[in-house]
Parts: sequence; C-alpha cells; structure tokens
Amino acid sequence: MLPSSSATHVLHVVGARPNFMKVAPVVRALEKRAGVEQTLVHTGQHYDANMSDVFFRQLRIPAPDVNLAVGAGSHASQTAEIMTRFEPVVLERDPDLVLVYGDVNSTVAAALVCAKLSVPVGHVEAGLRSFDRSMPEEINRLVTDQLADLLFTPSEDGDVNLLREGIAREKIHRVGNVMIDSLVRLLPEASRCSTNGFPKAYALVTLHRPSNVDDSEVLQKLLRSLLEVSQQLAVVFPAHPRTRRRITEFGLQSDQLRLLDPLPYVEFLALLRNAQVVITDSGGIQEETTYLGVPCLTLRDNTERPVTVSMGTNILVGQDENKLRLEISKILNGQAKHGTIPPLWDGHAGERIADVLTARAR
Ligand code: UD1
Repeated sequence: MLPSSSATHVLHVVGARPNFMKVAPVVRALEKRAGVEQTLVHTGQHYDANMSDVFFRQLRIPAPDVNLAVGAGSHASQTAEIMTRFEPVVLERDPDLVLVYGDVNSTVAAALVCAKLSVPVGHVEAGLRSFDRSMPEEINRLVTDQLADLLFTPSEDGDVNLLREGIAREKIHRVGNVMIDSLVRLLPEASRCSTNGFPKAYALVTLHRPSNVDDSEVLQKLLRSLLEVSQQLAVVFPAHPRTRRRITEFGLQSDQLRLLDPLPYVEFLALLRNAQVVITDSGGIQEETTYLGVPCLTLRDNTERPVTVSMGTNILVGQDENKLRLEISKILNGQAKHGTIPPLWDGHAGERIADVLTARAR
C-alpha cells in the first residue's frame, strides 16, 4: 500500500515518441491532486529533437528530472542499458509507484527493474494484444502486463485479454484512452495550425514497423504501392528515422515520393484531421483516426487495437497492394468506412487514472 502519512511519490518512465502523448494527461491530472509528488524519467530511447523535445514543448510536459540517454541499440542492448541505468534511479528516488506507458523497450525495461526491487508498477495502456509474437511490442506488452500491479486498460478487449492471461480482476482498471486526452486537448490548437504549403487533398502516410521497413523487398513493394496512390491523390509522408535510413540503405529514394522529416504533434494532428485517408502501420494513429472519423488503412495483418476496426474507421490492408488500391478507390468515390468513438475515449482517462491512484493511497 502507498504510505498515507506523507506525499505519494509517483515516478513516470517514458522513452519513445508514442509515450509522450500518454504521459502528458496523467502528469497534468496528478498535478491537480494534493499529496502527490511526481518524478519524470526519460530513458532517451528517442533522442532527436523532432522525435522528443518538440513533443515535450507542445504537450507542455515538464522537463524530465532524469535523462538516462540510452540512445539506439539492438533490442537486448537497449533494454539492458535502460535497466542498468534505471535501477540506481529507483533506489535513489525511492518512489511509491512507477508508471510505465505503452509497449516500447523502455516500458518493459522499467517494469522489470521495479518488479525485481519490489516497487509497485502501473501499466498505462495495458491489455492490448496483436497475438503476433514476431512484433517486439507484443513481447513488451505481454511481459509488462505480467509484472504490473495496476493495469489501466483503454477498452474492454484489454480487460478480456488480461483476464484470460490470469491477471487478477482487482488489478485491472478500465480508464479509457489517455492518448485521446492529449488529442482532445490540443485539437483546438491543431485547428488553428495552418497547413499552407500542403496539398488540399492528400493521403497522409507513416511507416516504421520493422516488418514493413527492414526487408528491402517488402519496403520496395510498399513504396511502389504508395507511388501508385500518389498518381490519384497527393501523398504526404513524414518519415520516421528508421524508415528514412532503410530507404537510403536499400537505394529506394525517389523524386516522385518526397519524404518529410517527422512532424511535431500539433502539425501532425492538423494534417491528420484534414486528410482524405491515412495510410499507416502505427498503433496510435489507428486510434487517432478513429476518434477523428478519418478513414485509416493499416499496412498490417493484425492490430492490437481491434476496436478501431470493429467500431472505428480502420481497415487492415496488410501488404496487399490490391486491397490498398480497392480501399483507396472506395474512399475517392465517397464510400469511405464510417465509425463511432469507443466508450471512454473522451479526454478524461488521465483523471480516471489519478482517481485510482489517489483512492489507493488513502
Ligand atoms: C519504437 C518502438 C515502437 C514505436 C516507435 C515509435 C520499441 C521496441 N519500438 O520503435 O513501438 O511505435 O518507437 O516511434 O520500443 N532513431 C533516431 N532518432 C530518434 C529515435 C530513433 O534516429 O530520435 C533511430 C534509432 O537510431 C534506430 C531507429 O531509429 O536506428 C529505431 O529506433 P528505436 O527506438 O529502436 O525503435 P523505433 O523503430 O523508433
């Protein structure tokens, strides 16, 4: 149990771009609660200014108290480096609870350190499963959820997955989608953000999964499909560093498919809400498009976010160019898939997490 005599000390761990929009609402909600002290640790998994700093600024996340500056590496070396550098921080700072976010290497590394030190862990965005263990993120999700003491799920499927894996019901708290909290808060800013210089109608593309970009033949095939799309609809393609590196390495650069640098959060949201269609392999973007009602074609065979397909605007097209062609033509002919917003994706998930934590501390 958390101590009731003094302030409860919550330590957050983030490391990669998709963590930043998830931690922001939780930090804000806890700031409003009396008797909560917070520490923010950045592992440095993502280190480029346009993958990290700009997100801290726009999401108004306080500067990290500690930066572990781990940088890039193989999965084993990156995870091990985070663990080695994080352990002394936990020992020194002595938190009552550590919150980890999403499914990146920083998430599982921090959870493992805490479990070994008997420090309680809360996992924000627990229970998501793609059932595809070739994805590094699926391994991170499975392990983190086994180690966590508090599991905050975004949707009912998360609860079902966790119960099936033997997680006790009392550890599971369905709070909704924290990433949508950030979207809701910054949407007015995104609406005012000019998209001058971008085409009026466009497909917004993001691509970074190892299964799509690390194999030259697969990447070449996907880029060919995108080139074909660009003949009907302009393509706006902010490229992840991994993807840009692979395109250069495999000699797949093309003048017809111009790559942009990764965009800041608000600018990306502005492009997202105005897009005719979004073509992506990201997890978070499947959710953001569902919230915004923008058609999303996901270049994967599975998703750990099935409500985006069952309720939202998401369609899985995998690496199938015929399916992509068919779905694009439906959208251009005014037959895009419509959807609804899943329950608890309402901008208040961070507050519900704060409610659980303050009730627990009493
Ligand atoms: C990570 C997450 C993934 C998430 C993605 C979002 C894991 C296992 N994967 O994948 O779940 O969807 O972040 O972006 O944690 N790089 C830079 N600059 C940066 C960050 C990375 O150049 O700021 C380069 C690295 O040097 C490396 C490559 O991008 O070569 C991959 O980075 P890494 O953090 O290992 O994984 P991501 O592919 O970003």
